[in-house]
Amino acid sequence: MPDALLDRIAATADLQELDSVRVALLGKSGEITAKLKSLGAMDPDTRAAEAPKIHAEREAVTNAIAERKAALEAAELERRLATETIDLSLPVTESVSGTVHPVSQVMDELAEIFADLGFSVAEGPEIETQWYNFTALNMPENHPARAMQDTFYLQPHGDETEPRVLRTHTSPVQIRAGENHGAPLYVIAPGRVYRSDSDATHTPMFHQVEGLVLDRRITLGHLKWTLETFVKAFFERDDIAMRFRPSYFPFTEPSAELDVGWSMEKGRRVVGGSEGWMEILGSGMVHPRVIANMGLDPNEWQGFAFGCGIDRLAMLKYGMEDLRAFFDGDIRWLKHYGFRALDVPTLSGGVGA
Ligand code: PHE
Repeated sequence: MPDALLDRIAATADLQELDSVRVALLGKSGEITAKLKSLGAMDPDTRAAEAPKIHAEREAVTNAIAERKAALEAAELERRLATETIDLSLPVTESVSGTVHPVSQVMDELAEIFADLGFSVAEGPEIETQWYNFTALNMPENHPARAMQDTFYLQPHGDETEPRVLRTHTSPVQIRAGENHGAPLYVIAPGRVYRSDSDATHTPMFHQVEGLVLDRRITLGHLKWTLETFVKAFFERDDIAMRFRPSYFPFTEPSAELDVGWSMEKGRRVVGGSEGWMEILGSGMVHPRVIANMGLDPNEWQGFAFGCGIDRLAMLKYGMEDLRAFFDGDIRWLKHYGFRALDVPTLSGGVGA
């Protein structure tokens, strides 16, 4: 067995070079492959003597390549681990400093836009009872709409008769805010929601913002104006085509989904223009039964509500392609897409920071 071959393998500097050596030796027209092929033309005695040598050589070379490959891969991993080290105990400097996650940034932008319209921010728990998540929103048990959302149910707790759920939307905050504050009421409720769903555009946890207005003589016109004002302020352009499409939600009647026009700019789909439509939110006039479930008189109070995915708003505005990267915690992604902590969105300065 010529050591020269083994030396050649051991001397390879990286995986690419190792692979060319492998091809040169074991590939279709490789040196060792040629020797194996030559066995067929030998007379039986020579073949009996040569075959074991050639097979042993092939085995030794195959093993040496596998070993070298493992070593090179381990070295590569070491190198990456060493260069990607982050010392969290270091004092903050410009080069090692956190950024505001795009989801937090968009939540701040929403709060800023809606504060200007007189809305305050409301909150509710992420572990929610079925009453708030479904029943009070006009989705009684066995209502087919409950199956519209793939719900995570929790183990029943203590003497609970109904297991609680991870809230599937921010709409339960409508009921809680109505109960706690009464009417008139102008609130948005941004937060985490959960559904059993996972691919490039769905993660089991994502973010929504709910909007709720309760007042006297509220009409669909108020809803339309509010959403139009919001969308133009958020995307920071006036040429946004909008279309209300009739839809169905158990907690609003009538219900409408809002589509916005998009166009291609530098190979990416952006909001604005009119090359096509995309849906960005669900909305409608709050169902009288839902207002009654807040403990308010639906003959006195009317309102509108809307619910919108925050992660998708961030992707559309700031150009990320894969939703899953939002929650990987990769410091390079956060540096690229994150925002400086001191750049607070203001309407006068442009909410996009
Ligand atoms: N909760 C609905 C959803 O998650 C959105 C919505 C909110 C629709 C408020 C109408 C009114 O799809």
